[in-house]
Amino acid sequence: MAYGLLQGKRGIISGALDEKSIAWKVALKAKEEGATFTLTNAPIAMRMGAIKQLAEQCEAEIIPADATSTEDLEKLFNQSTEILGGKVDFVLHSIGMSPNIRKGRAYTDLNYDWFKQSVDVSALSFHKMMQTAYKLDAINEWGSVVALTYMAAQRTFPFYTDMAEAKAILESIARSFGYHYGKYRKVRVNTVSQSPTVTTAGSGIGGFDRFYEFADKTAPLGNASAEDCANYVITLFSDLSRMVTMQNLFHDGGFSMTGASEEVMSLLQPQQQQQ
Ligand code: NAI
Repeated sequence: MAYGLLQGKRGIISGALDEKSIAWKVALKAKEEGATFTLTNAPIAMRMGAIKQLAEQCEAEIIPADATSTEDLEKLFNQSTEILGGKVDFVLHSIGMSPNIRKGRAYTDLNYDWFKQSVDVSALSFHKMMQTAYKLDAINEWGSVVALTYMAAQRTFPFYTDMAEAKAILESIARSFGYHYGKYRKVRVNTVSQSPTVTTAGSGIGGFDRFYEFADKTAPLGNASAEDCANYVITLFSDLSRMVTMQNLFHDGGFSMTGASEEVMSLLQPQQQQQ
């Protein structure tokens, strides 16, 4: 059911790779809620083609941009405001990539050049996006910027390796830039800390399937789906959350606040009775 929450709003949505992507679901919901927007992804992702199908469905134009390039980001904001007929009201950062994870490197054996790439693509790109928008004054007053993150920024999940550091930086950027953009244009900046979700980025993480199950059995509500996440992001783009900023918002069915669940406990072997 649509509520018209984004009626008349303009935006930019990054990171829709295929129909499993969280950004893909956000785009469909944003369209349903009345927004107009541009879609963007790294030029290499464009070649895979799936995004064109989404663009048709959403009547949106695609602007290729490598999120680590300020030049590409300038083009992204300039072209978006031109195409959409004014400054934007919302921006989604849904970008993550770790060469160390891709190539199966353990946390105690990281390749530092790849580590820098993980941080550049997954965290600094968020700062670059906002700094570019700030300098171009491309976001309307009371606009909303959201990035997606994961709880490994607060608690250790060994298989998440260098992405844990990237997410910690990403969340810190949301707080710091949230202050400056709030003062400048009352633009709010938040991160949404999402449950494990079956997507290309998600399933690339070592042991993802078992961990997905573990999280699902731990959270009282179970794992939040990509579609649930999209619904939550839409509320953050809408005027209903206009005083929420500089927050890391957990969207995980209660996982982050659960110590142990009966369901997980019941899977462990009962200890042998001492004679
Ligand atoms: P996805 O693989 O569908 O999306 C990741 C996107 O990042 C892709 O579209 C990819 O093309 C884009 N990207 C990579 N390098 C880029 C670059 N240099 N410039 C521009 N775009 C680039 O996977 P998913 O899961 O939808 O990921 C979206 C966000 O959600 C990521 O930040 C991820 O860390 C986060 N997240 C994912 C969770 C999961 O379990 N899937 C859980 C919590 C957060």
